[in-house]
Amino acid sequence: MCGIVAYIGSKKAQELLLEGLKRLEYRGYDSAGIATLSKSNSTTGDVASLKVVKAVGRVANLEDKLEDMGGLNGSVGLCHTRWATHGGVTEFNAHPHTDDRFGIALVHNGIIENYAALKTYLESKGHVFKSQTDTEVLAMLIGELYSPAEGIDLEAAVQAALREVTGAYAICVICEKEPDVLVVARKGSPLSVGVGNGEFIVASDPSAIVSHTSQAFHLDDYNVVKITRQGFKTSTIHNVAVTPKVVQLELDLEEIELGTFSHFMQKEIFEQPKALKNTFRGRINVQDSKVVLGGVSNFDRDLVKARRIILTGQGTALHAARIGRYLFEDLAKVTSHDEYASEFRYRNPIIEENSIVIAVSQSGETADTLAGLREAKDRGALSLGVINVVGSTISRETDAGVYLRVGPEIGVASTKAFVGQVAVLTLLSIYLGRKRFMSSEHCRELLTGLEQIPDKIQQVLEYDDLIKKVTAKYIEKENWLFLGRGYNYPTALEGALKLKEISYIHAEGMPAAEMKHGPIALITEGMPAVFIANKGPQYEKVISNIQEVRARGGHIIAVATEGDEHIKRYAEDVLYVPDVPECLSPMVTVIPLQLMAYHAAVLRGHDVDKPRNLAKSVTVE
Ligand code: G6P
Repeated sequence: MCGIVAYIGSKKAQELLLEGLKRLEYRGYDSAGIATLSKSNSTTGDVASLKVVKAVGRVANLEDKLEDMGGLNGSVGLCHTRWATHGGVTEFNAHPHTDDRFGIALVHNGIIENYAALKTYLESKGHVFKSQTDTEVLAMLIGELYSPAEGIDLEAAVQAALREVTGAYAICVICEKEPDVLVVARKGSPLSVGVGNGEFIVASDPSAIVSHTSQAFHLDDYNVVKITRQGFKTSTIHNVAVTPKVVQLELDLEEIELGTFSHFMQKEIFEQPKALKNTFRGRINVQDSKVVLGGVSNFDRDLVKARRIILTGQGTALHAARIGRYLFEDLAKVTSHDEYASEFRYRNPIIEENSIVIAVSQSGETADTLAGLREAKDRGALSLGVINVVGSTISRETDAGVYLRVGPEIGVASTKAFVGQVAVLTLLSIYLGRKRFMSSEHCRELLTGLEQIPDKIQQVLEYDDLIKKVTAKYIEKENWLFLGRGYNYPTALEGALKLKEISYIHAEGMPAAEMKHGPIALITEGMPAVFIANKGPQYEKVISNIQEVRARGGHIIAVATEGDEHIKRYAEDVLYVPDVPECLSPMVTVIPLQLMAYHAAVLRGHDVDKPRNLAKSVTVE
């Protein structure tokens, strides 16, 4: 989604800001903009002037524009990548937005919900708006309240404006009249301040900070920070002093650079064995038949009493949640449901006593998932998070949780986070199962299998060339089916989603048995149908479903268990995965599907890491 970077220090702001903005490109956006304050000498002393440049499309377009005009001077500035919500993709709607009186510029992530009422008020005061955005309303409101003569400086004006606002925001603000000040604030949308030597770099995502400093603090909701080159002062919007905790950013620069790979998605697919080893480190004790999960152990008594588990998320995270549902029923014997958080939130859900809600999210910032979580908490559920980004909003709002530990995921199409989510849900269900009915033998068997998953994934990755060749055979096809049963029905959904997201090929995922109840009408000669047909309790049933597709001319690509020669009779192409216990199989069967989607997108010439219309983290409902 939208990205923010701001800087105050002694260096030329433009370069730092653009470098940071490029690191945030992965989040998805459709326009970009920058503003700096540059000082010039006049007879009356130093005068600062605000310069704003915006461009539709990529950050590269903004760079071209800046180059044509000779660049921006100044060592204070801010910039933004916008993912359109209020108003179309135009330069007028791109950030930074300005007020019409004092040379105030503002960038904003989030949504000002009461912007219409505020706009009417501001128009009655004579302000004229240039854009259709909610953000411009906030810039104008700060300008309207700004009154240095009455002691209302930029910091106070920002505080006052934010007291009038409902909605979510991460904002950075500068003003011509206070050229050595940067004011930033947050509610509901992440913002961090990197603390350097005489300089500060603020960003909505720490990946834009780490190349400058590893010391940073994360703003809490309703925090406002006034930053100068000498230091910073933090307060609430009601001007109550706050002491932020400066922490070491746990982010390695190498983790957010491409290295020898062509795309982040490719890097992250190949990183999965290593990422999963990290997920498992210190958590699996085969000898004692034990799962160690420090993040939830304080709630053991509630977990044992659980009568219902509701797993929520969106997109890929929901697919992992659906696998989680099968795991919890199968291994922990607790009634479980999975549901889109966006639906759960608004359908007046029934939360009985001893219910647990598990929010699954890579970013920990997805607005729908956060809203669903809050609803469940309000209704008395114990809330757990299965989250990747440490310190994210959802991870802070849940009662307890287990981090994925798969490292930063930059590729918009989620891959290693999916496998990490399934792995953590497996750990959690074994943890819970063991405390309820699971024998130590069964537990040991599962943990032994689980520990081997990273190596099994590695084996699938070795087939990359073959997977690419098979994908190339069908690259002209515009409609694909992905079918699976049991644990691998959600894997089929994930395979279809991956293909859609980055190759823009229409794909449907569904339970293999459901196909004959309608979707079978879609099957035409040569249509690719990917079947997850690994050896498992429903293998024979899947073979029957394969035959139904074949009989109508569909071409079968089967994901099958190594050594299964029989399947070759039914499939045009077979992609083998190693034999693993059925309940652990999605972590290996999804790998060929991820690689197929990746190769399809590359073969079709798409920008894999910046798919059209998508955002890495969707912070609007
Ligand atoms: C967006 C992304 C998806 C992702 C979903 C949930 O829609 O494009 O790839 O699966 O959000 O994200 P989360 O961060 O909550 O896992």
